[in-house]
Amino acid sequence: MTEPIRLKLNGKEVDLHSHPMTPLLHALRNEELSPGTKYGCGEGECGACTVLLNGDAVMSCMVPLCQAEGAEVETVEGLCIDGELHPLQEAFICEGGAQCGICTPGMLMSALYFLRQPEKAPGGVREALEGNLCRCTGYTRIYQSVERAIGEAAGK
Ligand code: FES
Ligand code: FES
Repeated sequence: MTEPIRLKLNGKEVDLHSHPMTPLLHALRNEELSPGTKYGCGEGECGACTVLLNGDAVMSCMVPLCQAEGAEVETVEGLCIDGELHPLQEAFICEGGAQCGICTPGMLMSALYFLRQPEKAPGGVREALEGNLCRCTGYTRIYQSVERAIGEAAGK
């Protein structure tokens, strides 16, 4: 029996009991801590599983649980606070940025990273989301959603 792995998930300390080499994605989903984090390819190609690990956007299917020990992990469940949607979520609703929704949690987390650190993607929204694939929307509405959230954050 291995020791649980403790990390901070959306601001709360949690213990995970999966094997230390289990991908963070599967540990979060299997232990029902973040069902919103989606499994797409499982190979680091689609971005559906994107979470923030100590503030950096990572593909959680490629991160062993042991690497997240003691870390701060943010997932899509942390965006809505006291029933109030995050401006990014509001923007995705207003602009129709989600269709089937499989890519949406990953898009939101990559967009959150970009909102916090726009200098990391000098090419703007397209560059910020280039690691996230969508099979439904054609991307335009997703880009519009993020741009709307940026505009609202800037008070436009
Ligand atoms: S499920 Fe992780 S990148 Fe596709
Ligand atoms: S909304 Fe379906 S994959 Fe993006």
